[in-house]
Amino acid sequence: MGHYFPTPKGVMSSLVGHQIQQSEKVKKLIKELVEEVTSLNTELGGIRSPLPEFQESAKQKIDSTGLLRGRPLHYKYIGTGAGRGPYVELEDGSIKLDLINGIGIHLMGHSHPRVMAAAVRGSLADILTQGNLQPNNEYRLFTEKLIKIASKKSHLKHAWIATCGTMANENALKIARQKNSPARFVLGFKDAFAGRSTLMAEVTDNPAYRQGLPEYHEVLRVPFYDKRDPRSAEKSLTIMKEHVAKHEGNIALFGFEPMLGEGGYQAAPRDFFIPLLEFCKSKNIAVWADEVQTFTRTGEYFAFETLDIGQYIDICTIAKTAQVGATLYTEEYNPKPGLIAGTFSGSTPSLLAGIEMLDMLSEGYLGPQGRIMQIHKRFIDGINRLNETTCKGIAQDAGGLGLMIAFTPHDGKKESVNAFLNKLFENGVMAFPCGKDPVRARFLVPAIIQDPEIDIALQVIEKTLLEGV
Ligand SMILES: Cc1ncc(COP(=O)(O)O)c(C=O)c1O
Repeated sequence: MGHYFPTPKGVMSSLVGHQIQQSEKVKKLIKELVEEVTSLNTELGGIRSPLPEFQESAKQKIDSTGLLRGRPLHYKYIGTGAGRGPYVELEDGSIKLDLINGIGIHLMGHSHPRVMAAAVRGSLADILTQGNLQPNNEYRLFTEKLIKIASKKSHLKHAWIATCGTMANENALKIARQKNSPARFVLGFKDAFAGRSTLMAEVTDNPAYRQGLPEYHEVLRVPFYDKRDPRSAEKSLTIMKEHVAKHEGNIALFGFEPMLGEGGYQAAPRDFFIPLLEFCKSKNIAVWADEVQTFTRTGEYFAFETLDIGQYIDICTIAKTAQVGATLYTEEYNPKPGLIAGTFSGSTPSLLAGIEMLDMLSEGYLGPQGRIMQIHKRFIDGINRLNETTCKGIAQDAGGLGLMIAFTPHDGKKESVNAFLNKLFENGVMAFPCGKDPVRARFLVPAIIQDPEIDIALQVIEKTLLEGV
């Protein structure tokens, strides 16, 4: 066979893919494209009420989306595709201050020029979605980046990309079960959230999320830290020990969120975790940190760094701000071929945007004095001030970790918190509930928010609280 595409003389010095990467013309065109869109987005300067001329068409779009999927949208929200920083433009002409960010995906807010440029660059690749069989360089670079960050403070050595947090968690569970076979039970916290697959709905401690599904009884519950109870840590350890005594040799792993997310944004100190982790280690129970929500938000890349518990971690899962999911594991927990695979890994724009955001984080966002901790302090201080002054007693228990912030509005009952959040949305700020008793208002704040924008958020929260329920 001859060459179908004979190479012209002298061209082999650079592969075409590398030429595209290095092309000054491509770089210039991407820059121009992003600058043009950024310039259009500058119009989105702050919160705006819906515009009458767009309300009817927006209503139709929102209603038809609800009808098509069989369930109305949670908020009257369809985005136009334009945004700027923490602000996003909706089809009804309104501009919202977005403090929930797709439940925590858009770490750098909307339309960040660097994130857009990375995504545009990714969209120029030969393929949109990369797979585990035929990866491109972005697959390698993303994995390399994760391992480099994770291995600084842990024994994590490998990473396997997955499509979302749930799938990363499924892989974590399979890896632990295979290594510790035939052990089948899972130790998990009360009020945990782990995702939406059949098994993750079981690991998740919320019956409303598995209504009508069969029960598998494979998860053994341990209470999370209760800051009101000085004996909380001791109680959790006792209960864990009781489970292990009853099921010795039959528990594959202990899965935990470093801070309860969906369960109510309750943080716990290092001292709470250490005895639990030491005990699991002594019993050869895999330690799995579900960092799907905490990754990049606690002031370090991983919450296991913030809590200084990295040495205990056998498996760690991430997703959300990474733009794709991933399961990280130690050499010891590297599974046998065949256990984890799948067609999709992630889209090229997502992988490149994920890498870009991880790079950006190292530019002043991390560490005790970094921007993430500054944002946390200003937001929490602001809520506490409201609770002590104009909104006395109706903005309670502000807390969380880093960019994950929550407080309990009014009486913390589901109806009143949902009413508050719906009004907050109407007033221009987007948040979402978490927790059961009490129900809390949670904010997944983008890292790029500026101090004046935090102050605007606090003013809208104050106004909304004062409107009552
Ligand atoms: C702690 C935790 N685990 C798992 C998941 C599931 O991730 P995904 O929705 O990407 O499947 C979430 C999502 O909210 C989460 O917060």
